[in-house]
Amino acid sequence: MTLLHEPDYGTPASTSPESIDVVVDGIPVSVPVGTSVMRAAAEAGVGVPKLCATDSLQPFGSCRLCLVEIDGKRGTPASCTTPCEPGMVVRTQTPRVEELRRNVMELYISDHPLDCLTCPANGDCELQDMAGVVGLREVRYGYDGENHLDAPTDASNPYFAFDESKCIVCSRCVRACDEIQGTLALTIVGRGFDSKVSPGGRSFFDSECVSCGACVQACPTATLEEKSVIDLGMPTRTVETTCAYCGVGCSFKAELRGDELVRMVPSKNGGANEGHSCVKGRFAWGYATHTDRVLTPLVRESIDQPWREASWEEAIGFAAERIRAIQDQYGVDSVGGITSSRCTNEEVYVVQKMVRAAFGTNNVDTCARVCHSPTGYGLKQTFGTSAGTQDFKSVAKADVIMVIGANPTDAHPVFGSRMKKRLREGARLIVVDPRRIDLVRSPHIEADYHLQLQPGTNVAIVNAMGHVVATEGLIDREFVADRCDPATFAAWEDFIRQPENSPEAVEALSGVPAEELRAAARLFAAGANAAIYYGLGVTEHSQGSTMVMAMANLAMATGNIGREGVGVNPLRGQNNVQGSCDMGSFPHELPGYRHVSDDAVREQFEVLWGAELRGDPGMRIPNMLDAAVVGEFKALFVQGEDIAQSDPNTQHVQRALESMDLVIVQDLFLNETARFAHVFLPGTSFLEKDGTFTNAERRINRVRPVMATKTGKQEWQVTCDLSAALGYPMHYDSSSEIMDEIASLTPTFAGVSFALLDEVGSVQWPCNAAHPLGTPIMHVEGFVRGKGAFQVTPFVPTDERTTRRYPLVLTTGRVLSQYNVGAQTRRTANVAWHDEDVLDIHEADAEARGIADGTWVTIASRVGKTVMRANVTDRVPPGVVYTTFHFPGSGANVITTEYSDWATNCPEYKVTAVEVTPTLRGPEASTVAAGAESIHA
Ligand code: SF4
Ligand code: SF4
Ligand code: SF4
Ligand code: FES
Repeated sequence: MTLLHEPDYGTPASTSPESIDVVVDGIPVSVPVGTSVMRAAAEAGVGVPKLCATDSLQPFGSCRLCLVEIDGKRGTPASCTTPCEPGMVVRTQTPRVEELRRNVMELYISDHPLDCLTCPANGDCELQDMAGVVGLREVRYGYDGENHLDAPTDASNPYFAFDESKCIVCSRCVRACDEIQGTLALTIVGRGFDSKVSPGGRSFFDSECVSCGACVQACPTATLEEKSVIDLGMPTRTVETTCAYCGVGCSFKAELRGDELVRMVPSKNGGANEGHSCVKGRFAWGYATHTDRVLTPLVRESIDQPWREASWEEAIGFAAERIRAIQDQYGVDSVGGITSSRCTNEEVYVVQKMVRAAFGTNNVDTCARVCHSPTGYGLKQTFGTSAGTQDFKSVAKADVIMVIGANPTDAHPVFGSRMKKRLREGARLIVVDPRRIDLVRSPHIEADYHLQLQPGTNVAIVNAMGHVVATEGLIDREFVADRCDPATFAAWEDFIRQPENSPEAVEALSGVPAEELRAAARLFAAGANAAIYYGLGVTEHSQGSTMVMAMANLAMATGNIGREGVGVNPLRGQNNVQGSCDMGSFPHELPGYRHVSDDAVREQFEVLWGAELRGDPGMRIPNMLDAAVVGEFKALFVQGEDIAQSDPNTQHVQRALESMDLVIVQDLFLNETARFAHVFLPGTSFLEKDGTFTNAERRINRVRPVMATKTGKQEWQVTCDLSAALGYPMHYDSSSEIMDEIASLTPTFAGVSFALLDEVGSVQWPCNAAHPLGTPIMHVEGFVRGKGAFQVTPFVPTDERTTRRYPLVLTTGRVLSQYNVGAQTRRTANVAWHDEDVLDIHEADAEARGIADGTWVTIASRVGKTVMRANVTDRVPPGVVYTTFHFPGSGANVITTEYSDWATNCPEYKVTAVEVTPTLRGPEASTVAAGAESIHA
C-alpha cells in the first residue's frame, strides 16, 4: 500500500548541477540553481500555502496565497515564481503574510459553495486544506454578493464532471492540458470576475479534449472530479500497479474504498509516465469486473456441444489426459502453445516452460509473431540485442525526431505527449507515413517533412535516406570507425551508393518527391541528436525485418546510437510484448534470446528444470496452423490471445482450429478462439495479477494485486496444475519465486527481484552485477554484439500488388479510445468516442466510385470481403484506404492476406490490395468469414 497523496513541492525540480544555499524560516537548505523559493521551503520541510502551484506545472503566480518575506527585498513576493538566490533568507510565516493570505482566502471562500461536508472532494480538496492552513475564521463579505454559485455542471464526459460553481480559476487545468498533455483544449475566457475555464466554447465531450485526465489530476478543488469518486466516495487506500493496455507501461495508484476500485491515478514516480496517463489506463478499467467475464472452468467433448461448467481439477485433468492421448497417437510434436503479451512475465515464463519441459516440444510462439517479431530479428542482427535502445525520457534530448509507421498520439499517448513537448520546445520532425497522422500538424507543432509514401515502400525510403547520407558526405566516419564492423560497413556503403537507391529512383515507386526526401535525409544527418521512433507500420510488412535493419544502418551511419536523444526505438503495441519475447516465447529461443541449439545454454535450463530439452526449433504460429489443416498438429494451449480474430486470413485460422482435437483457451472472456475450444480456463485481469510487465523501454514494472482473484487462482497456478497433471510438477509458492528463477537463468535479468522493484520502483534490463539498477540507454560504450553490424537491405516490393480489379491499398491502425480487438475497451464507456470502425477514403477515390461520406461500402480483397461505412477525408492520399479494427463486424482480417515478413513470418497487415464499392447493405451481411478482428496497430 502507498500513500494516497504524493508530496507536492509546488514547482518542478531544477536539473541544474550547481547548487546554492538559502535559509527558510531559520532552516538552512541547499538547492539546485533555478529552484523556486516555494520548492526550497518544501525541501526544508516548510509548507507554504498555495493554490495555483503544483510541481507538475510551471509556476503561474495567480492566486497570491504563497506570499513570503525575503530579507533585503521589498514587498511580499510570490514564492512560487521567485527563484532562490545565494544566501537568501526567507520568512514564510510573518504576521504580514499571514494576514494577506487570510484576505486572499476570504475572497475565494466568499464565492465558493459551502457544501464541504457533502462535496465529493471532502478530504481531498486543496481549497479546504488551505482555508485551514491560513487560519480563516470568518468571511466578512458575506455570501450574498455577485458570485458564480449557480454556474452549471458539464457532465458530458463519460468519466469526469466539470462543476463550474466550484472553480477558483487557478488555471492549473489549462496549464496541465497545455504543458503535460499538449492538446491545448482548455482556455480561460472572459476577464476579471467573469473569467472562467472553457473547453473551446463547447462541452468537454464535443471539444478537442482527449480525456487524458491531466486537468482532473491538476485541479485543486472538486470542480473537475472523477464521476466514480462522486458515485462511490473518496478512496481510502492505494495499491501501486501498472497499466495493462499499451507498451508505454504507465504506473498507476489504484485507489480503493474498501475492496472497491474507485479510480486509477497516474503515479508521479512512474518511470515511464511521470504522473501522466491516457484515457485507457486512467479511466477504461471497468472491463476487469465486467459481467461478461467467465469465472468457472468450462469443458466440452467437441465444439458442436454446449459448454458445461467444471471444477478446476476436472478441467485440468480433462486437458492433460487429452494432450497425452494426442501425443501418443500423433507424436510429441503434434501439440504446442501460444503465450500472451498481455500476461505477466511470470505467467508467460511458466507457459513456455510447460510447453518445453512437460509437452516435450519447442512448439511455443507468441502474439509478438504478428507485431514486433521483425524488431527482435532486425535489432539483434545489427546491434546484438532484441530491444529498443533508449528510455522514454531520452526524447527530451532529441533535436530531430523521425516517426515512421507509428501514431504515438493515438497508440502510445503518454509517450506521444512527451514527444510533443519536445517538439514544442523546437525539435525538428520528420513523419514517414501514408496518412496525415495528428503529429503532422497539431497545436504548436508542424512536421518539417511529411513523407507520404505508398504503403509497402518503407525500405526504399530509408535506403534513399542512407544514399543521401553516403553520397553527400554526411556519414559520421568517426563513429563508424570506432563502433562498427568495417567489413559490413564497406558492403553497406557500396550497396547504398548504387543509383537504384537514390531519391530520384525511389520517387517513382514511393510517390515521395526526391527533393523532399533529400532534404529530410539532410535534416536527419545534421541533427546533433537524431532519434527514430517506429511502430507496426514498419514491422507488419513482407520486408519488416529488412526495414528494421535499414533504420539501424541509418542510425549507425549518422552516429545516432549510444547516448541520450538518439536511438532506434520500437513503440511496442501490447503492455508486455517486450516481456513475452524476453521470457523465451519464440520456438527457437530460451529466455534471454538464447538459441535452443546452444548446448551450454540448454544444459543450464535442463539442470535447473530437471527435464531434457529439445535442441531443434519448434513451429511458429503459422506453421502450427498449416500443420493443423493437413492433420499433423492436433492440440493447442492458447494463453490470453484471440488468434481467430487477430491473425490474418481468418478463414484459414478457423479451418486450422476446427481441425484440432483439443484447443485450450485461457482468457477473461469467451472470445472468438473459444468458439473452437474444448477447455476454457478462466484468466485473471491485471487488477488481480501479481507479477511484472516489461514495457517498450525494457522497463520492468510491478503489477500488484489490487483485488483477490475472481477465479480463485492466479494464472501461473493453473499452468503449474496442468503441468503437474502431465507428470511434470512445477512448484512455486509465489510469483516472486518465478522471477527469482528467471533471474537465475537469464543474464539480462540477473539482478531483478520483486524486492528490488519494490525498493526502486522499476528497472530497465540489462539489470545485473554490472548494472545493478538497470540500463536506461543501451550500446553506450559498445554494441551488445561488439561492433555494430551493417546489413545490406535491398528493397523488394511485396507480392501483394494493386491491379485493375484491386486498385487501392488498404492499411490499418488504431484510434485513441479503443484498443486492438476491442475486447477490453468495447466493454467500457470508451465506446462513446468510437463505436464502429469506418473506412477512410480520399474524396477523389470516393467520387470516382460514387461513394458519399457515411454510406456503406464493400471492401473486397483477393481473399475476402467485408462492409463498413465510408469516411471521406484527405487524411489518406488518393489510392490508399485506411481502417481500424476494434469491432468484430469490421472484418479486417477477413480481407488481409497471408503474405508475411521473410525472416519472421510477421503478417503483412499493412498492405492489402482492395476495391471499394458502394453497397446498400449494412454490416449484418458483411463478412465472408465470421469473426474478424485484428490485434495489429
Ligand atoms: S477547473 Fe480546477 S484547475 Fe481549472 S481553473 Fe478551476 S479550480 Fe483551477
Ligand atoms: S482531460 Fe486531458 S485533454 Fe481533456 S481537457 Fe483535461 S487535460 Fe485537456
Ligand atoms: S499510454 Fe498506454 S500504458 Fe499509459 S495509460 Fe495509456 S494505455 Fe496505459
Ligand atoms: S501558489 Fe504562488 S501564486 Fe499561487
